[in-house]
Amino acid sequence: MGFYKNIVFLCVVGLASCAPPPAQKCKLSDSDCMKTAFQQYLPTFVSGIPELGVEVLDVMDMEDIKFDLSGLKFTLQEGKLKGLKSSIIDGARWDMAKKRLHIDFHNNCTIRGHYTASGRILILPITGDGNMKLKLRNLVVKLFIDFDMGKNDEGKDIIVAKKFGYEYDVIDNVHYDLSNLFNGNKELSETMLTFLNQNWKQIVKEFGTPMMNVSAKKIYKNIATFLKNTPLEDIVLS
Ligand SMILES: *[C@@H]1O[C@H](CO)[C@@H](O)[C@H](O)[C@H]1NC(C)=O
Ligand SMILES: *[C@@H]1O[C@H](CO)[C@@H](O)[C@H](O)[C@H]1NC(C)=O
Repeated sequence: MGFYKNIVFLCVVGLASCAPPPAQKCKLSDSDCMKTAFQQYLPTFVSGIPELGVEVLDVMDMEDIKFDLSGLKFTLQEGKLKGLKSSIIDGARWDMAKKRLHIDFHNNCTIRGHYTASGRILILPITGDGNMKLKLRNLVVKLFIDFDMGKNDEGKDIIVAKKFGYEYDVIDNVHYDLSNLFNGNKELSETMLTFLNQNWKQIVKEFGTPMMNVSAKKIYKNIATFLKNTPLEDIVLS
């Protein structure tokens, strides 16, 4: 059963509010329409659609992170990314010649979790084991997904995602808050937090990618699952 059919069914038996489908249908080639449709569908999508295998992406449970980069050993566990729901879609374009979907968006988001750190950040030595909270203001992401056309079990056309890539930048600011730095030494902690917040741009460049990688991978995986489980005719105009 398709997603809209499910909604209709739930409406009939009175389990769901019978709102119109959450996004307008567009031709694949109509980028203006697509941008609006992606924006309309975003809250539904990031809230999770269990019947289509789409996980909750806001709040997103992040895969654990562990890296050793430029002299810093760092782990993040039970990471949670919050704020995708507030994203503004800046573009959604299907390039049918190159079989590439481009999705551009920006948002404000937070990443929280349990961190450990040892080594050095840029020039300063660091040790810590506690809670981390990052606030990203104006995170800009350009995601692309390469795909092929395919058929589902019923012979209906679907889009089969093959791989993805992305670029990101934080334009306005990142605010860092880490508890229990230097075994709780207040003076050293304050010095470090001030340093992190003053040098946020360079720190994002050096150490941001592992966190962005796990988030982008999870977004991609769920878009791929959605496309695999949704006949094209249900979501686009031919
Ligand atoms: C992000 O926050 C800033 C400052 O509060 C606000 O002006 C901007 O509209 C927000 N952006 C989004 C995409 O919500
Ligand atoms: C991020 O992911 C890309 C693509 O999978 C990979 O090449 C790169 O090494 C990863 N970077 C880090 C720092 O994890």
